[in-house]
Amino acid sequence: MDELSRRKMLAAGGTLGALGALGVATPAHAGALWTWSPKGSVAGAGKGADPRGVWDEEADRIVADIIESGHTAAVNRELRKWTKNGQPLSGALPAELRRFMERARRMPSWADEGKLDTATDFNEKRGLYLGVTYGFASGMMSTVIPREARAVYYSKGGADMRDRITKTAKLGYDIGTSNAYRDEGEMIVTCVKTRLAHAGVRHLLPQSPHWSKVADEEIPISQADMMVTWHSLPTTVMQNLKKWKVPIPDDESAAFLHSWQLCAYMLGIKEEYIPNSWAEADSQAAQVLTPILAPTPEGVKLADMLLNLGTIVPGGPLRYVTKPILGALTRYVLGDEIAGWLKIPREPFWDAVFDTAWEPFIAVREGLLSLEDAPGVLQKVYWAFDEILRLGALLVLSGGDLPISIQIPDANNPD
Ligand code: HEM
Repeated sequence: MDELSRRKMLAAGGTLGALGALGVATPAHAGALWTWSPKGSVAGAGKGADPRGVWDEEADRIVADIIESGHTAAVNRELRKWTKNGQPLSGALPAELRRFMERARRMPSWADEGKLDTATDFNEKRGLYLGVTYGFASGMMSTVIPREARAVYYSKGGADMRDRITKTAKLGYDIGTSNAYRDEGEMIVTCVKTRLAHAGVRHLLPQSPHWSKVADEEIPISQADMMVTWHSLPTTVMQNLKKWKVPIPDDESAAFLHSWQLCAYMLGIKEEYIPNSWAEADSQAAQVLTPILAPTPEGVKLADMLLNLGTIVPGGPLRYVTKPILGALTRYVLGDEIAGWLKIPREPFWDAVFDTAWEPFIAVREGLLSLEDAPGVLQKVYWAFDEILRLGALLVLSGGDLPISIQIPDANNPD
């Protein structure tokens, strides 16, 4: 279906039905039909509505009004004052937004303090690996999620990747802190502000001629898009840690999932779409994430910026973690096909080194293997692998540097 007839069809037939049809018509872009059962969700039940036709109704309307009435800067000023979960919201926020935020900041009944404490232990023990997987599994994967790559590239943040990386890292930092969801923590603040930022993007991006020309949806960041990105985070991270044979007790693995289920909820994802177990998460990811991965010109450019992370992360530049090493790491983590899409050159030395020495490196760090018994090459590259872990840690820590305030955008990327 060409762009014009699709727009006509959307106008005539109602968004929901048309998006369903779009899924059939352009499976490479829109993904397979949604058949994942809400029985596997944290809600345990639901209407099973296709999340490609569901956004964030109330937040979207309120934020669109703020942008249209020219109050974005004033609202952002008030939002900046809200930094701790338990802190009262500014009385100067528009009343409707404030009422919405009061509801949005409340934790769901299924939040489990005990699991969150275990998640803290896990984050402390595994922080180094989490940094690398957030950066080079999740971050790089986001560049081959076409809708995300286009949205990021053509939104305001696309013009300043360093700022965007730091703001996104804030979420990775906050979720790993010991009081993430408690009154003194900041994760709820970060999620609710991100929810508002996303609502702003939904209003603004459709006005971008650049985005509209290439997008395969009328409004970005549907609930389905949100779940796709969510899977690029915890689901992909856990799959990689398992592949690397990092020993993780079941209760820690379940607790890590729990902290991310709460994140999904606080970002405004409906409970009927949030998987209730890793098995359900894996099955949903296989349906919604894996089949939609594809290259886009925007994603290729974003990936190239990410490969320069060694020079742009605050605390850097890291002398040894060069672009070729990060390219090889990306190829190792995401595979040859995706590396090819991202035009990442082959690095005969480093590609082979990751294949033979990364898993033994983890085993040595875990005390499961002695360095003498590991492949000889590991002794030569141990410093580089260690530096990669440091880069990941710095990336996440950069999100803890104040002041970072996630904002409602007021414009798109002008380029
Ligand atoms: C903004 C996280 C899903 C596109 C943000 C921010 C965070 C974040 C922390 C604030 C950082 C900033 O303002 O730069 C997440 C998480 C998601 C998710 C955890 C899912 C679990 C998505 C999806 C899309 C998307 C599905 C697009 C398809 C954007 C855009 C911005 C943004 C365009 C705004 C950048 C700007 O201000 O210009 N997101 N996001 N996000 N996100 Fe998301």
